[in-house]
Amino acid sequence: MASFPCSIDFIGHIAIVEIPPELEEYKEVVGEAILKAHKRVRTVLAKAGAVEGTYRLRKFEVIAGSGETETVHREFGCIYHLDPTKVYFSPRLSHEHHRVASQVQEGETVIDMFAGVGPFSILTAKSLKSVKVYAIDVNPDAVKYLERNIAANRVEGKVVPILGDARKVVAEKLKGVADRVIMNLPEKAFEYVAAACEALKPSGGIIHYYEFAGGDNPIKKVEAKIKKIVEERAGRKVSKVLAGRLVREAAPYTWQVVLDLKVE
Ligand SMILES: C[S@@+](CC[C@H](N)C(=O)[O-])C[C@H]1O[C@@H](n2cnc3c(N)ncnc32)[C@H](O)[C@@H]1O
Repeated sequence: MASFPCSIDFIGHIAIVEIPPELEEYKEVVGEAILKAHKRVRTVLAKAGAVEGTYRLRKFEVIAGSGETETVHREFGCIYHLDPTKVYFSPRLSHEHHRVASQVQEGETVIDMFAGVGPFSILTAKSLKSVKVYAIDVNPDAVKYLERNIAANRVEGKVVPILGDARKVVAEKLKGVADRVIMNLPEKAFEYVAAACEALKPSGGIIHYYEFAGGDNPIKKVEAKIKKIVEERAGRKVSKVLAGRLVREAAPYTWQVVLDLKVE
């Protein structure tokens, strides 16, 4: 049992583990042990593939418990209804949800381009009296849960859920309105940088930009890439990099990086 899975993600009543190949034949035993050790866990899921596709979903296998996958997750005083088999959600991003939400000022207009079930948008709205957050996602199930979560957290009117492709939504109705844009789609965000710049007010604003990068200095690498894209594709300028940090190791030698960018 030297390789008993050491990292367990908890989403509401669900525990998610990665079973190493050498424990494959004991996965039910692992699942039962997790159920026994964690009283609030009712379903244990084993990862059965990578996060993939437009909706950023992962396949799971039920290895113990009831198999019920719709749950209620609590984070920083907010509640999120979600089903991890239908929508993206990672408790490993909780620090980022809080870090970004705590930078938003009263009176701002925020666009959460890839909002999922709302962890950035809803925490932001719950933390401030006067804020408008346009929360966009292309996955109908994510928007269904987002709407439910807006109601559950009493942030109706402050968070506006929008089903659709972020680029199209910005072009059609959100040009030049935002003080701040959140871009949490690390594998593809660079394709949407021009849209994010288009969404910012003419006077400029802040972009929270996520991307995966490897190599010796992933933060500097992403910084150079994004500065170039902002200039070449959007005709704007990154006037300051307010912060840059490694969020988590997404794969061996590959980091999820976040940059907070002031764009003029
Ligand atoms: C990595 S998840 C992040 C979700 C959420 N921000 C969070 O932290 O839990 C990216 C989300 O972007 C959505 N998405 C992918 N392409 C999109 C697009 N073109 N326009 C809007 N949403 C998109 C996916 O459905 C997914 O919910």
